[in-house]
Amino acid sequence: MHIPEHIEDKIRDEAAKGHTLNCYIYDTTPMRQKIKTLQAMMPQGVEIFYAMKANSHPAFLQTALESKVEGIEIASLGEAKKAVDAGFDASRLIYTGPGKSPEELRWCVKHGIRTVHIESLTEAYRLHQICCEYGQSQDVLLRINANFDIHEAQTTFSGGSKKFGVDEEKIDDVLPEILALDYLNFRGLHVYAASGVLKFEDLLKNCELVFQLTKNIEANYPGVCCDIIDFGGGFGVDYLETGHDFDAEAWAKGLHDLIETYQFEGRHFELELGRYLAADSGFFCTEILDIKESRGKKQVICSGGINHFRRPAALGINHPMGIVWMSRPKLHTYQERVRDEHVYFGGPLCTGADKLANDVAIDAADIGDIAVFALAGAYGLSMSNQAFLSHPLPQEIVL
Ligand SMILES: Cc1ncc(COP(=O)(O)O)c(C=O)c1O
Repeated sequence: MHIPEHIEDKIRDEAAKGHTLNCYIYDTTPMRQKIKTLQAMMPQGVEIFYAMKANSHPAFLQTALESKVEGIEIASLGEAKKAVDAGFDASRLIYTGPGKSPEELRWCVKHGIRTVHIESLTEAYRLHQICCEYGQSQDVLLRINANFDIHEAQTTFSGGSKKFGVDEEKIDDVLPEILALDYLNFRGLHVYAASGVLKFEDLLKNCELVFQLTKNIEANYPGVCCDIIDFGGGFGVDYLETGHDFDAEAWAKGLHDLIETYQFEGRHFELELGRYLAADSGFFCTEILDIKESRGKKQVICSGGINHFRRPAALGINHPMGIVWMSRPKLHTYQERVRDEHVYFGGPLCTGADKLANDVAIDAADIGDIAVFALAGAYGLSMSNQAFLSHPLPQEIVL
């Protein structure tokens, strides 16, 4: 992988400070560019929300704000507060996720967030009770666990038995109850199929399915209109460097045609994108502390592991990576090194699960060099085992 020059320069500056290097370097220029491109290519009515679970660092929220995304998709009260601190009005927040606590729902109603995405009938009643306490109504979407999944996707959120949303087959049990709750304004559906999808056709299938559901609901419930349709996130990025990125332009064109076919002009179509917006704006950089040969395999040990960058181990994949050579003096004559071979990268934690890369081809690496993992801007630090072994957190450096 080619490490961008400005990222390498920053790594060298940091390494020159003399402490063991372990950091994320963020440059949100790609995120800014991606939002701008998407905004220009999407059909009328599509609204882009940043799913801040991908990276809630203020630099990413600031970029989303300045790029004029429609708002932020939150999944906890903590995220809500970070979004508001970053300058988003609560009315620009949409809240999805199973198991929202009464405290979280109370905050939403009190601050007037845009929509709460209902994940079960119990949640609808809990939210309604809070609305009654405040004497205030709340716009809601109903999240559906569609009877459809994308088998090749990295993680699926619908199809089969899921903790997300209400099974498609149960819509007629749940929807009338929600419609009868005076303080809940039903605005539409949320159907999120899968994350990390690389084939645009698969996500378009999900859109068509939601459109069909919408038509059925509107036919069966006179007077009900789903004027907001939320497709969730899911646009993938090319972690495996296959050369095939998610084709957002083809997806936009396909959606445009679907909107025409279904005569759904004038509605709101929400996208909650995380990975696609944030991944290529971050690099995880960690110093090589040791290299060992162990029973025919070379093990490269870095100062940060799954406590700082868990994603490769969690997903069982290698991120694109490269080495910044530091030419540090050897500590002893028999010091191992890597030269044009396949090796294993791990961190300092006392678990075999602490893996950063498996069987990866490396031209050259020595102790003291810096291993650099790209596409680490999304689900990097945010989904790592930060507390395990009480190592200090990596620095997060914003360029
Ligand atoms: C409800 C919801 N929306 C949006 C996203 C963002 O997904 P992605 O990063 O794949 O775009 C997620 C991710 O888990 C999610 O659960």
